[in-house]
Amino acid sequence: MNTVIEVSNVSKTFGKGTTLNRVLDNCSLCVNEGEFVSLMGASGSGKSTLLYLIGGLDRDFEGKITLCGEDIGSLKDNKLSKLRLSNIGFVFQFYNLVMNLNVEDNILLPMTVNGKKKSELKKELDEILEITGLTEKRKAMPSTLSGGQQQRVAIARAILGNPSIILADEPTGNLDSKSTAEIMELFSRLNKEKGLTILQVTHSEKCASYGSRTILLDSGKIVGSDDEQPGEVSAEEEPASDTEKAE
Ligand SMILES: Nc1ncnc2c1ncn2[C@@H]1O[C@H](COP(=O)(O)OP(=O)(O)O)[C@@H](O)[C@H]1O
Ligand SMILES: [Mg+2]
Repeated sequence: MNTVIEVSNVSKTFGKGTTLNRVLDNCSLCVNEGEFVSLMGASGSGKSTLLYLIGGLDRDFEGKITLCGEDIGSLKDNKLSKLRLSNIGFVFQFYNLVMNLNVEDNILLPMTVNGKKKSELKKELDEILEITGLTEKRKAMPSTLSGGQQQRVAIARAILGNPSIILADEPTGNLDSKSTAEIMELFSRLNKEKGLTILQVTHSEKCASYGSRTILLDSGKIVGSDDEQPGEVSAEEEPASDTEKAE
């Protein structure tokens, strides 16, 4: 199984001089291709900071982060932008839609600002509107949509371009329970049917239960994972395979 996210001994400090605030302290974690992992922890424990470091949105940290096999600390800015654009879709608590663009133009925006033509994206757009249940709303303006529908537009925007990873920061933090379930079911389908790797920050045990594993952060330290992290088993610890024993 491929490890698509590898965080090794990562620390992050905000501020200068006497006002230093170490918000991440020696964090290590691995996420394998096709996993749906939840990151939980109290408010202020460093979840968003860690997610933004993983997504290459903030490059000022100690330690090492490897994304799809690339050490993001050693990449030039333009290479990192490319890696981000082709491999990662971001979903945030507040949907960050452009209010004077309709649903389909919002979904297409990250691609069209990067020079892609709308006509080239039509087939993929139709498919994504279908998956996210927005076909009927494709010409609607964001202000006419519910919160759950707006978040589905943001998810559609995140998966256009076929990224392998979704990083979501409290994607249902602003939604009622019905819309929350809809969004989690959509994530679950994207994970199972499209093989997308998902790392979501959530406060809700119920949301975390849609994933296969939870990582717990407390005051900047990873204090637990409810499952063994497959990437952490070293070669020496692995038992000899049956065929080796038989020989
Ligand atoms: N840009 C920033 N500048 C200074 N401190 C920050 C910044 N972003 C976050 N912090 C601090 O880092 C800590 C962790 O924040 P955050 O990662 O947002 O936590 P969480 O997402 O778990 O609620 C908090 O103490 C917060 O005040
Ligand atoms: Mg946060």
